[in-house]
Amino acid sequence: MEDKTAQTVVITGSSRGFGLCQAKKFKELGCNVVISGVNETNLAKALAELEQINPQDTRAVSVVCNVTERSNLEKLWDSAADAFGGVDIWVNNAGVNSPDRPVCELTEREINNILDVDLKGVVSGTAVAFAGMRAQGYGKIYNVEGYGSNDAMMTGLTMYGTAKRAVTYFTRSMARESHDLTGDCIKVCRLSPGIMITDFITHANGGETSIVLSDKTKKFYNIVADYPETVVDYVVPRMITNDKNDAKIEWLTGAKVAVRFLTAGFRKRDFFAGQE
Ligand SMILES: NC(=O)c1ccc[n+]([C@@H]2O[C@H](COP(=O)([O-])OP(=O)(O)OC[C@H]3O[C@@H](n4cnc5c(N)ncnc54)[C@H](O)[C@@H]3O)[C@@H](O)[C@H]2O)c1
Repeated sequence: MEDKTAQTVVITGSSRGFGLCQAKKFKELGCNVVISGVNETNLAKALAELEQINPQDTRAVSVVCNVTERSNLEKLWDSAADAFGGVDIWVNNAGVNSPDRPVCELTEREINNILDVDLKGVVSGTAVAFAGMRAQGYGKIYNVEGYGSNDAMMTGLTMYGTAKRAVTYFTRSMARESHDLTGDCIKVCRLSPGIMITDFITHANGGETSIVLSDKTKKFYNIVADYPETVVDYVVPRMITNDKNDAKIEWLTGAKVAVRFLTAGFRKRDFFAGQE
């Protein structure tokens, strides 16, 4: 049952998108992975894909987990610890986008959903993983940042940005708590993936609402965005080797953005070709 030669990685919201891509890369690099999400059918499909990767050395399991329910996150921890004897890396990845509307036009339900998943889900996930890691004496937690983490502001993204700005503060303050409580044995870190072409950029409320991208937004994404497969090639090896508390693993740095704009005329990319 227990295999401590391979590291064990738990990722919330990993039945698709960035979460699933991370799981594939971790498995390719020799880690056992525990994927999770709200939809059992999507999870089963994702698990079947993962089982094809590096099957001799690694295993994957899936657990249904809605991050808005702390009891689900506790079950996720327990399932991972039972299957693999501990958790080395826990990624609070699950997230939903804002509908592209100002706050005064959002319903109470839409606002609550963003805060419940994007902020409360990360707080609960961190609390559960931290407690488990404190008991086992080691571990790394990565919280996924996003638009607003650096104080950027835009009409239509206020609630998402509010949640992600708070995630950044919370993660850094938890790193401080870990320093005081565990002498940095548990690393609480930030993962900044930039902009990725996933369902996230065209859907809000966890898939319920479509977001129509303007030509200007598409042009911007064609310059700065990447497929998640590109991002994980960079971030996942660094997540494995990182040994610092309060680290930030960042794909799209300011310097990279500047180069992208300077070279945009030569790098013709169209992620939306063939779409309406
Ligand atoms: N795509 C981007 O441009 C981008 C940029 C910066 C940060 N991010 C962040 O990356 C993370 C992953 O986003 P993505 O692009 O893969 O989006 P995605 O929509 O493809 O995936 C989000 C995942 O979260 C899951 N999820 C949603 N609500 C959940 C809940 N209540 N409980 C459990 N799982 C839930 C979804 O089922 C899905 O698997 C999010 O935290 C997002 O904020 C995305």
